[in-house]
Amino acid sequence: MQPATAVAFPNIAFIKYWGNRSEALRLPSNGSISMNLDGLYTRTTVSFDPDLNNDTLILNGRRSTGPAFRRVSQHLDRVRGLAGISTCAQVISSNNFPTGAGLASSASAFAALSLAGTAAAGLVLSERQLSRLARQGSGSACRSIPGGFVEWRAGEDDEDSYAYSIAPPSHWRLVDCIAITSQRHKPTGSTEGHALAGTSPLQHARLMQAPQRLAICRQAILERDFDKLADMIELDSNMMHAVMMTSSPRVLYWEPTTLAVMQAVRAWRADGLPAAYTIDAGPNVHVICPEVNAPQVIEKLEEIPGVRQVLSARPGGPARLVD
Ligand code: PMV
Repeated sequence: MQPATAVAFPNIAFIKYWGNRSEALRLPSNGSISMNLDGLYTRTTVSFDPDLNNDTLILNGRRSTGPAFRRVSQHLDRVRGLAGISTCAQVISSNNFPTGAGLASSASAFAALSLAGTAAAGLVLSERQLSRLARQGSGSACRSIPGGFVEWRAGEDDEDSYAYSIAPPSHWRLVDCIAITSQRHKPTGSTEGHALAGTSPLQHARLMQAPQRLAICRQAILERDFDKLADMIELDSNMMHAVMMTSSPRVLYWEPTTLAVMQAVRAWRADGLPAAYTIDAGPNVHVICPEVNAPQVIEKLEEIPGVRQVLSARPGGPARLVD
């Protein structure tokens, strides 16, 4: 069997996924919409080797044996199940974005692993099949399989819970300016967080209105209506964090700088600078703006005390195999 290498981008959710109907299959409680992030990527090589007695994982140049390794090995079990093989594999994976900067890498990691793993096992899967497989490794990874602006339909079961592109990367020249506020490891990982979502009394209300927010966000993307998008992504991000802050136990991802950036972005928009914030399960703030406004947004973000670094990414393409 030949080794295979794949590259995949992370994504930033405009309408967030938080909470599962099935934890085991990672079937989400609601649909979500995201944009792939060009320039930041995970590159993963998988080689199935009959001489190996165990899977091995080299992550950013270091042998990994902890929880990250077990999650990767479990995902290889899914690939082996599909291919009908039992051979162990070596996985070499690295991110080109700073590790420990609190950027979620599980989406790009499991998208790249799904594509490289299935190709190395001799399988050719459709985009939909790959998206379903990636979903089981990390929910948001299913959105890093297709390119550009992507919707993940919640679906009823494993078969129909997958992501597809609603517009290609070239559709809208947006930039995600990512304000890195902390190098701290997040206190509650997203897998644990999803399991807590249902304990918040606000999750039900959040889910009830998710179809409307999805429809408005989808329409804003298709019409390239920035004001509509800005309003919806901030609302949806606040709603998810309200659920996090009211679950048991309570989870608060924000730090003082997170709030400072949120307030600054609101003030800039009121002054006519098109920019909107959205925050995942961590303290960093993703500030979305049209490409023409990105230099000004980045400059202003860098001036905010507590912002350590600002990364930027345009809409990214699909996960792909490379030589
Ligand atoms: O795919 P996971 O289990 O890492 O969950 C991602 C959760 C959020 O990033 C907070 C929201 C999202 O939709 O990406």
